[in-house]
Amino acid sequence: MTSFRTLDDLGDIAGQRALVRVDLNVPMADGAVTDDTRLRAHVPTITELSDAGAKVLLLAHFGRPKGEYRPEFSLQPVVPALSDVLGRDVTFMERPSGAAIADLPNGAIVMIENTRFAAGEEKNDPQMAKMIASFGDFYVNDAFSVSHRAHMSTEGLTHFLPAYAGRAMQAELTALEAALGNPEHPVAAVVGGAKVSTKLDVLEHLVTKVDHLIIGGGMANTFLAARGVDVGKSLCEHDLTDTAVAILEAADAADCTVHLPYDVVVAKEFAANPPTRTVNVHEVAADEMILDIGPAAVEALADVLKTCKTLVWNGPLGAFETPPFDTATVALAQTAAALTREGSLVSVAGGGDTVAALNHAGVADDFTFVSTAGGAFLEWMEGKELPGVAALSA
Ligand code: 3PG
Repeated sequence: MTSFRTLDDLGDIAGQRALVRVDLNVPMADGAVTDDTRLRAHVPTITELSDAGAKVLLLAHFGRPKGEYRPEFSLQPVVPALSDVLGRDVTFMERPSGAAIADLPNGAIVMIENTRFAAGEEKNDPQMAKMIASFGDFYVNDAFSVSHRAHMSTEGLTHFLPAYAGRAMQAELTALEAALGNPEHPVAAVVGGAKVSTKLDVLEHLVTKVDHLIIGGGMANTFLAARGVDVGKSLCEHDLTDTAVAILEAADAADCTVHLPYDVVVAKEFAANPPTRTVNVHEVAADEMILDIGPAAVEALADVLKTCKTLVWNGPLGAFETPPFDTATVALAQTAAALTREGSLVSVAGGGDTVAALNHAGVADDFTFVSTAGGAFLEWMEGKELPGVAALSA
């Protein structure tokens, strides 16, 4: 990773206008924010800039309104929740106006309406970037989770203003660098989730970077099938077994050990608490489906983690939303958390389902770092350069 400027590189910013890209794309129900994790992540950056006397102008998107004004995608309903987590007033500005910004007191915090209401945002239109840049003196990107998008507010503005990483971005980049950029070996990666097809690039990249690749979730079934296992009526992408073989061969060539479960929990129906059996993978009946990794496999995986210095985790090991198929995910997450607390493991996790799974296991706070990024985290795991991050390079 190249180096980037942070808020530490700002001089006296009293009275200056800071254009700050944040990610306020939060879940809402009945007009209220239902999970404020992303809002809380931006508190350090916003308060630091405001305390230093900057006029803090927040730029963010909400949903995908596709370049036109659609009231259901307004950011106005997010303002009270943001104000709550900050413990400070936040004013809402439908359109940025030079005169209104000039009138703001130093330290004011302003939420500007959804950047995606303008077509130029997603097109990364330089004219729009130039116009928005004219409202600021410098630019801060605090939104790693949107930085896989080359948009006006994540990339375009850096061509017109000095650019800095905010505190949340800085923490994210530092953690990701420690996990995959320049990690301490041995490194383990846990990749779970339903489908191989959504994580092909992730798997192909990881086999070249990590020492142990632990595959779980529905996607493990495709790999088991590739190894000749009859997975019954389990979720399985039979058309991808050749791809799975190629990934296993690439892993071999790169000295990466791939761990697939050898015992599994099966049921005849996918429902909460149905009758289950724990069987060797070769004993899955034709009318059964694999819904979790078995206890022997979990124990073996825990032993693998005990030999590792670094862990990257994306995706659950079983159908964790439906008990008892959360058992393996919870057990291995708790092992990872305990090793992290003891100081023997650097553990970094990310991706929507992963955060939910770690919260469910009650260990999200024990991991070294948990990213709230979805798509951006995956692209980073694929080894891709993220345009919003690259644009911050000093
Ligand atoms: C997210 O929710 O992952 C980010 O805010 C990015 O949103 P997008 O996928 O609509 O670009």
